[in-house]
Amino acid sequence: MTPSDVKATLSFSDGSPSIELPLYKGSIGPDVIDIRKLYGQTGKFTYDPGFLSTASCNSTITYIDGDKGELLYRGYPIEQLAEQCDFLEVCHLLIYGDLPDAEKRGNFVKTITNHTMVNEQMQFFLRGFRRDAHPMAVMTGLVGALSAFYHDSTDVQNPRHREIAAHRLIAKMPTLVAMAYKYGIGQPYIYPKNSLSYSANFMRMMFATPCEEYEPNDVLVRAIDRIFILHADHEQNASTSTVRLCGSSGTNPFAAIAAGVACLWGPAHGGANEAALSMLEDIQRNGGVEKIGEFIKQVKDKNSTVKLMGFGHRVYKNYDPRAKLMRETCHEVLGALGLGNDPLFKLAMALEKIALEDEYFVARKLYPNVDFYSGIVQRALGIPVSLFTAIFALARTVGWIAQLNEMIGDPEYKIGRPRQLYAGAARRDVKPLAQR
Ligand code: CMC
Repeated sequence: MTPSDVKATLSFSDGSPSIELPLYKGSIGPDVIDIRKLYGQTGKFTYDPGFLSTASCNSTITYIDGDKGELLYRGYPIEQLAEQCDFLEVCHLLIYGDLPDAEKRGNFVKTITNHTMVNEQMQFFLRGFRRDAHPMAVMTGLVGALSAFYHDSTDVQNPRHREIAAHRLIAKMPTLVAMAYKYGIGQPYIYPKNSLSYSANFMRMMFATPCEEYEPNDVLVRAIDRIFILHADHEQNASTSTVRLCGSSGTNPFAAIAAGVACLWGPAHGGANEAALSMLEDIQRNGGVEKIGEFIKQVKDKNSTVKLMGFGHRVYKNYDPRAKLMRETCHEVLGALGLGNDPLFKLAMALEKIALEDEYFVARKLYPNVDFYSGIVQRALGIPVSLFTAIFALARTVGWIAQLNEMIGDPEYKIGRPRQLYAGAARRDVKPLAQR
């Protein structure tokens, strides 16, 4: 961290002495005020539920500028990564800090490929679930269960162990997601085929059966690969912060990632693409394009709770750079599948056009986010809506493990232990039962 020449002074209106707080400069982005000694010096905590103004760590992995609509992984713009790299190159970048050269790329692909199978016992573990269990319930269990199968990579203080756990997680997530899908529809599991690329192998594990081979289509494989790249990391979001906090106790890395999966499941986080698609289907059922005007009216009505799902973002207040790339992919996939006239896609395009011109959305800086298009793309690829969040978890796993390993490798790291503003009863005495 680079100290700034500027200091912050905190003064109090009750005459308590003011204190000076150091500031640190990020390489880009806002400076931070270091409040670590605040409690020791003043006996006061800061109050920031939801972390609206709090940097919970220092990190070198991902940078977001919400006003500019900029997303960088290790300094590289997401647009360049999405257009020039594949997902495994991006995984290398996130884990090791730089893009691989041809030799490193080859070695990394080989290493990941060597870990794609899961312990055969996992199948029996999976059988304990109901067939209709939500894939995210299954994934939370399966990822947590990895901790019981891979004991040889769980010494979090050992950098080599952390590296092996990262390789295993990146390699096994597609296998586990495909297994959760196959189990739900009652089809046999398809083992990984290591001659295929990471994303083609995933598509095959999803859609091949023992009686029918799946021929990977380049456009569709590229589309799922792009979905993985765009969701690979997003700095200190809720699930990543969950992984960091969980991992800060020194717990098993697979268990910490399972905590991330559990957090991502919530509709305010990973579940939005599912919601965006359901919204489009609802409008379609109720009259389609003709009914957009009526729907937008409801969205704008202060007394209604209807939202235009897939629009707006807490951080991106200009545009979500991932949305632009996903929109491109959406056109490519629907073109390749001859679905350009798909009514849901036409509806989405009409809705987008109207919303982008409407004063309500313009004034509030509400632009389409990545989820507006990713649901349409996944549906076109044949992925069921209930699996969308599990695909997100597959992609985000590399971000989670990179962030976890960064934290544990940081000499300044401590177990996470937030404090609170206590607002409950003051000390009181327990009365005997008869007097309560
Ligand atoms: N439809 C209609 N109005 C909206 C929407 C929307 N999608 N989003 C925000 N608004 C309005 C909101 O009602 C408020 O209006 P007013 O000022 O009149 O009260 C104003 O815009 C500001 O909204 P906010 O709720 O203060 O904004 P926020 O930053 O807290 O919310 C959000 C961000 C993503 C939760 C919200 O935009 C939303 O619910 N969008 C729909 C759900 C969605 O698509 N989520 C996916 C986000 S991308 C996923 C990821 O990056 O992981």
